[in-house]
Amino acid sequence: MSGSRIDHARTVMQRIEALGKISDDPNCLTRKFCSPAMRRANALVGCWMQEAGMGVHTDAIGNLIGLYQTSLPKSKIFLLGSHLDTVRNAGKFDGPLGVLAAIACVQQLDDSNTRLPFDIEVVGFADEEGVRYQSTYLGSKVLVGTFNPKDLKRRDSDGISMAEAIRRFGGKPEAITKARRDPKRLLGYAEVHIEQGTILEQKNLSVGVVTAIAGQTRMHLDFTGRAGHAGTTPMSSRRDALCAAAEFISAVETLARRTNGLVATVGEITALPGASNVIPGEVGLSLDVRHPADPIRERAVSAFRRKAIKISRRRKIKISAEIVHQAVAVGCDLRLSASLIKAVKQHQREVPLLPSGAGHDAATMAAITPVAMLFVRCKGGMSHHPDESVRLEDIRIAISAMEGLIEGLAAEI
Ligand code: GLV
Ligand code: MN
Ligand code: MN
Repeated sequence: MSGSRIDHARTVMQRIEALGKISDDPNCLTRKFCSPAMRRANALVGCWMQEAGMGVHTDAIGNLIGLYQTSLPKSKIFLLGSHLDTVRNAGKFDGPLGVLAAIACVQQLDDSNTRLPFDIEVVGFADEEGVRYQSTYLGSKVLVGTFNPKDLKRRDSDGISMAEAIRRFGGKPEAITKARRDPKRLLGYAEVHIEQGTILEQKNLSVGVVTAIAGQTRMHLDFTGRAGHAGTTPMSSRRDALCAAAEFISAVETLARRTNGLVATVGEITALPGASNVIPGEVGLSLDVRHPADPIRERAVSAFRRKAIKISRRRKIKISAEIVHQAVAVGCDLRLSASLIKAVKQHQREVPLLPSGAGHDAATMAAITPVAMLFVRCKGGMSHHPDESVRLEDIRIAISAMEGLIEGLAAEI
């Protein structure tokens, strides 16, 4: 264990704290795509990238990119990173840990004056959580070339279009399609992330290697009934959109519980007009459905649609359902993962192989380059919650394992 490595882990922890204070909401940590907090976060992380010897730029959609260059022209690029946006009322580690651990690895290379036979780029992706526009992985989709320009017309809850938000942030919506990467230049992508589960904690181990990332479908459903007076409209003649939505939400839970491995969540709901003495006439809600096997997820999505239609017909409610995001399950690259396993073995008696139920930018990146992921133990498996917590010692091991991966790649080339 080298002294400087301990320092790098400490620096990561201090930076996690500093970034955790950069929020769009003064009462909790919320950092949305292309928001003022995101701009401040990018500026701060950009300084840390420069300190580690990287040239820094922000691409057309707002991804922050640090380049640690070799002296060789037209070198291949190994990508490291994770996302800098957060959910609402987030924990500090989901996303930033991967970016800061990557910067720590580069800092270590720079400190020791190591030049590799390839370039390293550290990416702080602009949107992985999809809080602002419901469409997730916006940042990594731009690199991969699967960003859908139609999404630029989406509006956030304040009516601001995505194109406008990107422009205000300093990005260039019209240049997004040109920001895609040439797969031939890429060696791979590796991401450090908190586990968001409890297997590592149960095994009393610091890190594990990810095997695959579950697919997901995100939908938006609108239930339209008829608003009316809460005091004068008899129960028998109501078309209450919120009651229909409540029945649907409860059915989603029941159906999901019946299928092994399926998880389904209604996480957002709006009821209009939103007054205690008015029957709700319009309800919009989100539905997030995941399973490691795509056909099971797809069957569940169809079953949820059928259920929504059935409930709405019986209650004389109009229903519309739209898929706002869909991602297939993705396997991590066997060769890259084998190198990561070898690196982890230097630090742990056992290397757990873990599937990921959460989505990650690696899932998108896998379309153009081999990907690997390292999970880090987090307290109680807690995530998407302010109580997210990671031990310093586990960060140290994660940084060392990623350094081992980079050294292994350099030796292969
Ligand atoms: C991202 O954290 C997701 O899996 O929703
Ligand atoms: Mn997350
Ligand atoms: Mn994440």
